[in-house]
Amino acid sequence: MDEFHIEGGFRLEGDVPVNGAKNAALPILIAALLVEEGESVIRNVPDLRDIHSCLEVLGHLGVESEFDLEHSTVTLDASSLDSFEAPYELVQKMRASFLVMGPLLARLGQARISLPGGCAIGSRPVDQHRKAFRAMGASFEDEGGYMLGTAKPLSGATIFFDRPSHTGTENVIMGAVLAEGTTTIVNAACDPEVSDLARSLRAAGANIAGEGSTEIIIEGVKRLQPLDYAVMPDRLEAATFLIAGAITGGRVTVRGARANDLGLVLSKLSEMGVEMTSTAESVTAGIDGRPESTVITTYPFPGFPTDLQAAIMALTSVAEGTSVIRETVFEDRFLHVAEMARLGAEIRTVGDEATVIGVEHLSGASVMASDIRAGAGLVLACLAAEGESVITRVYHIDRGHERVEERLRSLGARITREG
Ligand code: EPU
Repeated sequence: MDEFHIEGGFRLEGDVPVNGAKNAALPILIAALLVEEGESVIRNVPDLRDIHSCLEVLGHLGVESEFDLEHSTVTLDASSLDSFEAPYELVQKMRASFLVMGPLLARLGQARISLPGGCAIGSRPVDQHRKAFRAMGASFEDEGGYMLGTAKPLSGATIFFDRPSHTGTENVIMGAVLAEGTTTIVNAACDPEVSDLARSLRAAGANIAGEGSTEIIIEGVKRLQPLDYAVMPDRLEAATFLIAGAITGGRVTVRGARANDLGLVLSKLSEMGVEMTSTAESVTAGIDGRPESTVITTYPFPGFPTDLQAAIMALTSVAEGTSVIRETVFEDRFLHVAEMARLGAEIRTVGDEATVIGVEHLSGASVMASDIRAGAGLVLACLAAEGESVITRVYHIDRGHERVEERLRSLGARITREG
């Protein structure tokens, strides 16, 4: 199993390009399932473990795909879809596989998907997905860890989500584009990746309005043309590089980052004393000395992203003063706290709240990544920690950050991957 070896305490300087967004690429690749004839072309797809897992699930369903790694382009042909099952071995690798539910119900009228189960950040039920498809005329039976859905055909309905679900909204959008009639999603997720999915489908002939707001309206159409779309830049990766600049007292420019997708994050960094500049092509973060403390509550978009909670916690751990971070999206997303403590961070958690007493220096230690974003937070903390650190279970980080060590090295980080 690969490890990262990091010698911390060095300023990062320079610029780095941002990749396509994993959480937009996944639903857009899966949306190709909806296309009955012709080849879909998806560009700006990052070369990540999760993307390969997604292509494996699609392959299992009978979709032919090819990933041109040199050009970050995936071509997909779903004309000979011959299965409606996503098996446990595949869904277990990546829970976003559950997104095939909507397209399969829409195209084949049935889907048998392994229930995703919990993961390192919480129990993560799928009740909102199920409730939405029920409202659209589907019925479900659970058996042996699988959810068998049938719908002949899916029909439009008004869906009231109890809470905004990111992939829940995407799943319903994909089910609704080929359903009969109009579907309205009330309390929809407003995340930029949801909007990117909507734009990719609209370009293929879908009738969708209101994405980016809490109410999305989809008018079913008979068929879609093949998708031809370039995935949006990854806001989470962009923010991770920006925080890498700030935590090392350096200055990092992320080329291709979109400031609009990072509104509250940039504003919080700026409140912490990080100098932020954005242009149409890039965002830059720089700071001399230590950042100031802050108060953060994670919340669905446009709130502060839960996916950046570990990263911002790393930054607050070296801030001047005491910060408070509340996690309201997932019930169990503080696994990185004990690892950061091994690096000398002073963090106390009570329930969903972490109090972080900033220290002047972190110091190198061996730590373990528990999920993609906790792993990225640990990389950041180790970049700031003086001396040598080792991060194990790097495969978690590889699920969401492409060759992060090479890209950090290009900014002056001393990080190597050891097999
Ligand atoms: N929830 C329910 N019932 C549901 C669906 C969600 O109770 O049917 C709860 C969840 O348990 C959680 C909250 O609602 O407490 C929000 O979950 P959401 O459904 O929005 O999360 P998701 O769609 O499963 C996506 C991202 C996650 C990201 C969250 C929150 C993808 C593939 N995944 O997950 O990304 O943390 O939204 O923004 O888009 C990651 O990339 O590392 C990652 C975990």
